Amino acid sequence: MEKYIPVKKSQLAFYKNVPYYCLSKSGDHVLYKKPGTLMEKNQLAEAKLIDIYIHQDDRRAAIKDLLASLNMDLAQKIAQKGVQSVKTILCQIVDEALFSPLEHVGPVLPETIEIMFYGHSKNSELLEGLTRISSGSKMIVEHSTNVLAFSMLYCCIHDIPVNMSKIIGISALLHDIGATLIEKEIIESDEKLSSGDYERLKMHPQKGYDLILDSTQFHRTVATVALERHEKLDGSGYPKGASLITFEGQLIGLIDSYEALTYRDKAFRKAKMPFDTMKILKNDVLEKKYDKEIFKNFCLCLTR
Ligand SMILES: [Fe+2]
Ligand SMILES: [Fe+2]
Repeated sequence: MEKYIPVKKSQLAFYKNVPYYCLSKSGDHVLYKKPGTLMEKNQLAEAKLIDIYIHQDDRRAAIKDLLASLNMDLAQKIAQKGVQSVKTILCQIVDEALFSPLEHVGPVLPETIEIMFYGHSKNSELLEGLTRISSGSKMIVEHSTNVLAFSMLYCCIHDIPVNMSKIIGISALLHDIGATLIEKEIIESDEKLSSGDYERLKMHPQKGYDLILDSTQFHRTVATVALERHEKLDGSGYPKGASLITFEGQLIGLIDSYEALTYRDKAFRKAKMPFDTMKILKNDVLEKKYDKEIFKNFCLCLTR
């Protein structure tokens, strides 16, 4: 049985090199658009009213195509200085990165990070702006996009060498990829988790590590960050209770905690104001859970 995958309406304009199919009256998939062409405006309007598919065998080419188009769009939106539209496109890219096979998206992600750095050099408000607005995407996508923006801001303000910054950017983007393999109800729950569910949740760092390492195209640090992000310097974190944590793992860990506390309302606790979050994190620094220097430097990013 041949397999066809539905194309999201919001992405119909992005696929150039793959053919589209639609359903005939008899229920067969028939060619709708030839490869090598983009949809014209009037075609797009028509295609939005019916179901459009791509063939399973074209999936790899389609993801490459999609991310290349999204990257182009991202660069364009950055040039136009529209922060809201940049956030929307960036969230689409992060969504694709988290939910498509990593070996397909891996080669395109460094370009996304590069475009963002270039964007920051042209518009220094961009990265801060991105963290202040919502795109209404899935929780994990919005969270990963915010962590990405804060991490890049940290790298830019503190002159972290370019190559290292790029690795940090990709690590931020993928730090929670393991969570995509855990039941959504657990990840998105805004109730306090039962101990069984909490144990399931605590498996996401290891799952992320294995997934990233498996795809072999990323720097090892990217996998390490996914594994280390919930560890604490006093050994009170998970999954291993490690107290030796790489700089990258510590940095993303701190930013991740800040983002989660500041942006996420839960039934059992309210989202906090940035200042209150910093007070909580400062206490954690005093308890030697986070590094003092990294905390100080992160505060500088928020209070410039
Ligand atoms: Fe996490
Ligand atoms: Fe996270």
